[in-house]
Amino acid sequence: MKPLDSKLPKVGTTIFTVMSQLAEQHRAVNLSQGFPDFLPPPELLERVEQTLRGRYHQYAPMPGSVALREAIAAKLAASYGVSVDPLAAVTVTSGATEAIFDAIQAVVRRDDEVIVFDPCYDSYEPSITLAGGRPVHVPLTLPDFGIDWDRLTAVLSSRTRLVIVNSPHNPSGALLTAADFARFAELLRPFDCYFLSDEVYEHVVFDGARHATVLAEPELAERAFAVFSFGKTYHATGWKLGYCVAPPALSAELRRVHQYVTFASTSSLQQAIAEYMTQHPEHHLNLPAFYQERRDYFAALLGNTRFEPQRARGTYFQLADYSAISQQRDVEFARWLTIEHGVAVIPISVFYDSPPADLTLVRFCFAKENSTLDAAAQRLRRL
Ligand SMILES: Cc1ncc(COP(=O)(O)O)c(C=O)c1O
Repeated sequence: MKPLDSKLPKVGTTIFTVMSQLAEQHRAVNLSQGFPDFLPPPELLERVEQTLRGRYHQYAPMPGSVALREAIAAKLAASYGVSVDPLAAVTVTSGATEAIFDAIQAVVRRDDEVIVFDPCYDSYEPSITLAGGRPVHVPLTLPDFGIDWDRLTAVLSSRTRLVIVNSPHNPSGALLTAADFARFAELLRPFDCYFLSDEVYEHVVFDGARHATVLAEPELAERAFAVFSFGKTYHATGWKLGYCVAPPALSAELRRVHQYVTFASTSSLQQAIAEYMTQHPEHHLNLPAFYQERRDYFAALLGNTRFEPQRARGTYFQLADYSAISQQRDVEFARWLTIEHGVAVIPISVFYDSPPADLTLVRFCFAKENSTLDAAAQRLRRL
């Protein structure tokens, strides 16, 4: 037999796995991969225990537990004033990653173009490639990681099938506003194309900002998939539970894919989250303050180093410029920092198709106990 011709020849082991392995090998403080080192809320864990002892062990309904979809719809109404049909417009998936994959497979056909904004989350491109589509990379403007509207206008065409945005934005923390979504609505109006809004960090926004969701922009919402993650909101990335909100016709297509990717997501967790969400809305309401405290704590620690923190308006990531310390390329710098100085970070060039030549930014994850951040800072101060 001939050697297998890879369908994803550009894909290797993800940088997150590489850096986490390197961190373990060199006993580095791991601020690379984006996961909290603290526990989910205790009341949620109690509910998970109860549901595991109860009767929630068989397949959940394919689109998600009804109780959970109702809780999601109620939360969307309370948080954003939007009204969605829980049964027809909400689909529970195995993490936001699955929702993104399903949405892309549902709409992208061979040779369709999909616009993504670099730096972008690493799952978008392989999902587009598997659907036979072609990613079109539009860089965000530096230093604020904003949308370059002129470049977007220049690449939009009848070949464009989907536009993918992410706000709050990983890795930069930049936020899209309601005005940005209105502008997308206007620009996409002449085109027969869909919109995917990755809003997994919806509750991690700072300095009094309010998360703007595509669901609150009625014209754009008609062609949009909005994707969310319980992993981010409940400090439980390993549970891999998320959801997609889209108009009924789009949800129906997304479910055709979901049905044969996972069929349904873990039933006991869905039940536990449904109960917790309804009874403890204060959890997500308190999340901005909870993470802002950590952001400020870590920024103050970085203030005593030669790293220059960039403005972080959302997400649990902090970008920092290292040019006062080293002129290495960011991938080499991240490896060096992990191996020689015991702190693992993510180089942000890996989020680009063509990274700018003079990029000297690395990403720290500050969703960590203060003791973890202290231990990292102690090492970083020596640089
Ligand atoms: C921007 C972005 N989108 C999607 C995901 C995936 O979320 P999940 O873990 O729920 O699949 C992540 C996780 O890091 C992310 O940062």
